[in-house]
Amino acid sequence: MRLFIDTGSVREVEEIAAWGVLSGATTNPSLLAKEEGDPGDAIKRICEIVNGPVSAEVTSRDPREMVREGRALRTLHEHIVVKVPFSPAGLTATRELVADGHPVNMTLVFSANQALLAAAAGATYISCFMGRLDDISVDSAAVLGEIVDALRPGGTTSQVLAASLRNPMHVVTAATIGCEVSTIPYKVFQGMLPHPLTTAGIERFEADWQQDPRFAEWLGGLVSGQPVR
Ligand code: E4P
Repeated sequence: MRLFIDTGSVREVEEIAAWGVLSGATTNPSLLAKEEGDPGDAIKRICEIVNGPVSAEVTSRDPREMVREGRALRTLHEHIVVKVPFSPAGLTATRELVADGHPVNMTLVFSANQALLAAAAGATYISCFMGRLDDISVDSAAVLGEIVDALRPGGTTSQVLAASLRNPMHVVTAATIGCEVSTIPYKVFQGMLPHPLTTAGIERFEADWQQDPRFAEWLGGLVSGQPVR
């Protein structure tokens, strides 16, 4: 499963991209509204940093205007994916944008029926929201599993993108269900890092080499090109 970052913050993208784990990014109007500065500059910078697909969302509800907004967004950077909310208008716009060669991320998908329609319209990515389902006491893992199972037999090229991820378990669930992509908020990326045994292990290695520094000295010599014998 490829990992995208779900944010409008260039700083957050820079920090997580430095880990070498990012394949793309997703934004939405709510995330971009939280940031200072020109949204276009932020989206372009995010495209440069992740060097992969970056979803930027249309705001209109009219299919023709969605297509115009999508085409305009695509002029910003070659990595832009046009994000279109699920609706009959969104399906119409998706079909037209895809026919023009523009990749589309159909967002706000909450059921297998919606996912089947998004795939039939040719969406490149289908964003299925986990957190917002859990918020209303619907089992997001069950819905996501049903979406993946419903799409696979049809041989669709649409990729299931797990979105609205609120915790590290959502990421693992999306991966084990077989989603092609997860888009992960900065805080959830941070939550994926720690394990008490990792911390304890690093401390033990450090204490051991400090107690007997021969190996560390040998390694330092290897790095500097002046081997210690
Ligand atoms: C991503 O594409 C979605 O817009 C995002 O994951 C929504 O997350 P939220 O439900 O936490 O707002």
